Amino acid sequence: MSGPSEPHRPPVERFTKSAARNIFYGGSIFFFVVFVGLTAQSHWHIVTNSTDEATMTAGVIRGKHVWEKNSCVNCHSILGEGAYFAPEVGNVWVRYGGKDDPEGARAGLIAWMQAQPTGIEGRRQMPQFNLTDQELNDLVDFLEWTSRIDTQGWPPNDAG
Ligand code: HEC
Repeated sequence: MSGPSEPHRPPVERFTKSAARNIFYGGSIFFFVVFVGLTAQSHWHIVTNSTDEATMTAGVIRGKHVWEKNSCVNCHSILGEGAYFAPEVGNVWVRYGGKDDPEGARAGLIAWMQAQPTGIEGRRQMPQFNLTDQELNDLVDFLEWTSRIDTQGWPPNDAG
């Protein structure tokens, strides 16, 4: 029972400076370890699940360079990255039926690129890049390979 007669006692200091320091260093180390762990897990996931390294042929690699050299990404998005003037091409291989008919999809994609621009009034146009047969085939290799990247269900529909 406290009353007016009780002598005044200073409050007990529970949260000491050393406790604060321990929380600071302990917390920093703990979250740094978590961060390193998550980074390693992401890397592991990319290398083992997301990247299909076994089928990354010379054609796929050359095709990526053709893609970059001609700045296709200035109009197109690929797996969501890029410009929104022209269709997403991360899944264009699937849209062209590549899963059921790889030869047909290859021929279709090459014919499409060779037929541009269409000049159809009111339709966005894709320029003619005058690519060689080798470059066109390499591009298709790259687009085919890209379509197999595990995007965890993105885009949600084929038109993506
Ligand atoms: C100046 C903008 C522009 C650039 C650069 C461009 N494209 Fe296109 N591309 C388009 C447009 C616009 C369309 C859609 C045209 C249409 O539907 O008539 C298209 C369509 C396509 C399609 C068919 C997509 C589908 O879903 O049917 C493919 C494949 C394609 N482009 C590949 C490429 C590649 C490969 C490059 C680089 C070598 C490239 N594009 C560069 C504008 C561009």
